[in-house]
Amino acid sequence: MNRIPVWIDCDPGVDDAVAMLLANWLPELDIVGISTVAGNATLPITTENALKICNLMKKNYPVFSGADRPLMREYEAGESFHGPDGLGGARLQEPSRRAESLPAWDAIYEAARQSEGRLELIALGPLTNIAIALGKYPELPRYLRRIVLMGGSATRGNCTPAAEFNIHADPEAAQAVFRSPVEKVMCGLEVTEQAYLTAGELAAITAHDSAVCRFLREATPMLQEKNTAAGLPGWAVHDACPVAYIAHPELFSGREAGVFVETRAELTFGKTVTDLYSDKKFEEKNTFVVLDIDRPAFAALLERAVTKS
Ligand code: RIB
Ligand code: CA
Repeated sequence: MNRIPVWIDCDPGVDDAVAMLLANWLPELDIVGISTVAGNATLPITTENALKICNLMKKNYPVFSGADRPLMREYEAGESFHGPDGLGGARLQEPSRRAESLPAWDAIYEAARQSEGRLELIALGPLTNIAIALGKYPELPRYLRRIVLMGGSATRGNCTPAAEFNIHADPEAAQAVFRSPVEKVMCGLEVTEQAYLTAGELAAITAHDSAVCRFLREATPMLQEKNTAAGLPGWAVHDACPVAYIAHPELFSGREAGVFVETRAELTFGKTVTDLYSDKKFEEKNTFVVLDIDRPAFAALLERAVTKS
């Protein structure tokens, strides 16, 4: 099988952890590298978490630390659904190694160049590292197959009524990414809030006596509680969507649209403004917006990845 080279830029985060577990398990994907950004927790914590999750997977994927704050403002912890340690209080072994010395943006560029244009960039946190890479290396789009990101929404917000967390955390970076010529796929809240596991499904998936299942049993109760308190039917495993999309696009559907980011307004700061549902359209359709998912098939994929990891 001609495996797809992927790079995961993330802010672990429990759903980032599941995305990493899924990408590691899927035979269609080949994880080239992992980079971390401040988001769900501070950069030292998200970096340590990425190393811990690699430990959990018994893999030594290279981990590169990136931006500890957004492009144009101070880092704000915000209301973290993932707890102060970023992993819901789950106990994992201390990392047995450190992150690589190269900054994330340089590592992303080097990996893209070596992949001869096949590398798919999976973005699961604030887009700061990717915006820096695009700014420092204007030729980067030539070497990337596409960017598949979890972030934004055409209709709602989970950080403010208008904005989704990853975009709101660094709107200027997100604007730079959406304005870049790289092919983009946006897994926004329309699809990721459909990508949930009910409490019963989660209990069944994590009932097995393995280190991965124990991790998720410990890491997910707070998220399950907060998601259901927000009126969702279960825990939305947001970050697993871009990973599943690359390996199994047949589970998803969506539409091309124009997508740009509000970086100035007070009320809609960090909103991904799309022309999906408007009469007036942007001049360009720069993003494929994923809108629907075959949830049972997605849940089955997660079950196999978690129980077989
Ligand atoms: O809005 C959901 C996103 O914010 C996910 O990436 C989650 O990990 C948090 O970072
Ligand atoms: Ca994330």
